[in-house]
Amino acid sequence: MLVKIFSQSKENILNSVKNGDVTITVFGLGNIGFPIASIFANVGAKVIGVDKDEERVDLINSGICYIENEPELMEMFKKSYEEGRITATTDTLKGAINSDVKIIAVPTILTQYKTPDLSAIINVTEYIGKGLSQNDVVILESSVPPGTTEGLVKEILERRSGLKAGVDFGLAFSPERVMSGSIIADFTVKYPKIVGGINEKSANAVIALYKSVIKNELIKVRDAKTAEAVKLFKGVYRDVNIALANELALIAENLGLDIFEIIATANTEPFSHIHIPGAGVGGHCIPYYPYFVMDAATKVGITSPLMETARRINERMPLHLIDLVTDGLKEAGKNPETARIAIFGLTFRSDSKSCVNTPASVIIEKLRSIGAELVAYDPLLNRDEVLKFFNLDFAKTLEEAITKADCVVMITAHTVFKNLNLDDFSKRMKMPGVIVDARNVFDPIDVLKAKLVYRGVGRNPKDF
Ligand SMILES: NC(=O)c1ccc[n+]([C@@H]2O[C@H](COP(=O)([O-])OP(=O)(O)OC[C@H]3O[C@@H](n4cnc5c(N)ncnc54)[C@H](O)[C@@H]3O)[C@@H](O)[C@H]2O)c1
Repeated sequence: MLVKIFSQSKENILNSVKNGDVTITVFGLGNIGFPIASIFANVGAKVIGVDKDEERVDLINSGICYIENEPELMEMFKKSYEEGRITATTDTLKGAINSDVKIIAVPTILTQYKTPDLSAIINVTEYIGKGLSQNDVVILESSVPPGTTEGLVKEILERRSGLKAGVDFGLAFSPERVMSGSIIADFTVKYPKIVGGINEKSANAVIALYKSVIKNELIKVRDAKTAEAVKLFKGVYRDVNIALANELALIAENLGLDIFEIIATANTEPFSHIHIPGAGVGGHCIPYYPYFVMDAATKVGITSPLMETARRINERMPLHLIDLVTDGLKEAGKNPETARIAIFGLTFRSDSKSCVNTPASVIIEKLRSIGAELVAYDPLLNRDEVLKFFNLDFAKTLEEAITKADCVVMITAHTVFKNLNLDDFSKRMKMPGVIVDARNVFDPIDVLKAKLVYRGVGRNPKDF
């Protein structure tokens, strides 16, 4: 018996979730959907996960948690699985028919023309519309251009179901504010959860539902479009500020300045929050969101020159690393076409295992096209992961990576890279070895003392 939460009181909704009277289907069982499914199942809800990836569905149905390095997730999932509250299917329509609440967490990416690709959302929404019943609730958690929930999603649901959004069923947007590596804590405790409904009744039902799993504040914004924009604008803020840091770094390199000393000192003032420059921007979110906003702005005849410039700067940073590599090798009297280059830190963020849109991919492709011999070193990844993402030779140990290397390129500053012994580098590398550092991992003076050639984002070796 399905319990329809849309027309119930707050208290009834809370109790129905905890007593297992509500069935929630989560569409898309990736980094976001799998934890959401486990979080709701953990407090008592019955959860159906839908994914087009058969392997993921089989793993869930065998009780195997395939998302690693997420504290609490494994235990939450295992307990719910063992108590029979979580199952998965590739049958999207079945998942839509057999639940009261539908949460959408499929990917939103870019087309080759850098416009939003909402095809996964359209696909699952068509099925949800077909399976929708009176008093169901639909929540979109995938990041989308402003206006998607009350435009595209509502239109498909109403057309497919013959029901009226906000009257016959609830519809809201609630952005994901989590970071991989701390998803459960971010979702349930760390940040307030934001909800924007297509009307008051929709927002209230979703807030009551989330109250069953969230210990932080629930913020109701004026509408779904506002909630969508909260997520995107925060991403754009990061992208533009990273671009500013990168631009200042490029200026510093040519003005005889050390960008890292300047940023650390400037940020001792409370109004200064200069970001850290690097090899570019990666991940599921920041590289896409400016394009989502630009697309929405273009449709109403507005240009967004700041965001466009920021994207251009950040997208060029991996190529700047290539310039630093070739320049450093030139000083060392070496040819990039025959050099052996060790790439350190392949993931898009320090201490994360994710390689989605990592700047390392661009750097590797470019160096490969020049003809350099490449070897990867990233203690957070295993050989299979490196092969899958980069089709690259993999060094298991630091020694293996640096032995006979002409150049080491430090892309992502994992904690394990702190305090590397540069004497080891000069002993094992083909001297004069070159160190190219995108993230201030090495002290340039120590690099020079070790008789290595130094190149770094935001610093010029001539100044040390
Ligand atoms: N990962 C993050 O840290 C993060 C943070 C905030 C917001 N988001 C947003 O959350 C959304 C989901 O991101 P994610 O990181 O979980 O993606 P993901 O790539 O990890 O997982 C998406 C899952 O959806 C499945 N899928 C794709 N198309 C499908 C379809 N048509 N039907 C059923 N399943 C389908 C995939 O097989 C995959 O398992 C995106 O909009 C993203 O921008 C992600």
